[in-house]
Amino acid sequence: MENTARIAVLVSGGGTNLQALIDAQGQGIITSGRIEVVISSKKDAYALERAKMAGIPSAVASRRELGSREAFEGKIREILNEYEIDVIVLAGFMSILSEEFVKAYPKRILNVHPSLIPSFCGEGFYGLRVHEAALEYGVKVTGATVHFVNEIADGGEIIMQKAVAIRENDTPETLQKRVMKLAEWKILPRATEKVCADILKNKN
Ligand code: GAR
Repeated sequence: MENTARIAVLVSGGGTNLQALIDAQGQGIITSGRIEVVISSKKDAYALERAKMAGIPSAVASRRELGSREAFEGKIREILNEYEIDVIVLAGFMSILSEEFVKAYPKRILNVHPSLIPSFCGEGFYGLRVHEAALEYGVKVTGATVHFVNEIADGGEIIMQKAVAIRENDTPETLQKRVMKLAEWKILPRATEKVCADILKNKN
């Protein structure tokens, strides 16, 4: 292996977490890995613009256009093989990967989730919905989690978490923004660096 782990970032939307990873690479927070490719499940995702502006190659794998889960995941695996990817970071990737896919990359797939797992997670909990659920329940503290991906939705081993206090006048939108800024954008790059460093350590 080279002296950096090769990272693919999988996205579906705005890509602010992708941006945090790109910035962390520029700032020397991520040194053990390098983003080699960005794969989007949506062809109009703004994350693709962010990749382009950073000079990172990108590709689209649309489940709708490819027709079946097999074809969708087959295309993603083709791209991962082409770029010889070691680590896959799900950064706002809104498709659940099959058990077969996940088992092919044990402890090599990370996901960022906008709550303190095991609260407000699992199937159906994504994006703004997570923050709506936290406010509906009335919890006073929420946050973000970076975890390894296994065959259970949001059920893999936790790598890092950061708590964020809820304010009385929070809306799902204000809470989402604060959780991103104070937690997700901080722990996703740090967890990515940690996993890449561990992979390099075990290889060398
Ligand atoms: C982020 O808040 C991320 O944690 C969440 O979607 C948002 C994507 O934003 N992911 C999930 O809910 C996964 N279950 P981004 O595209 O700006 O990074």
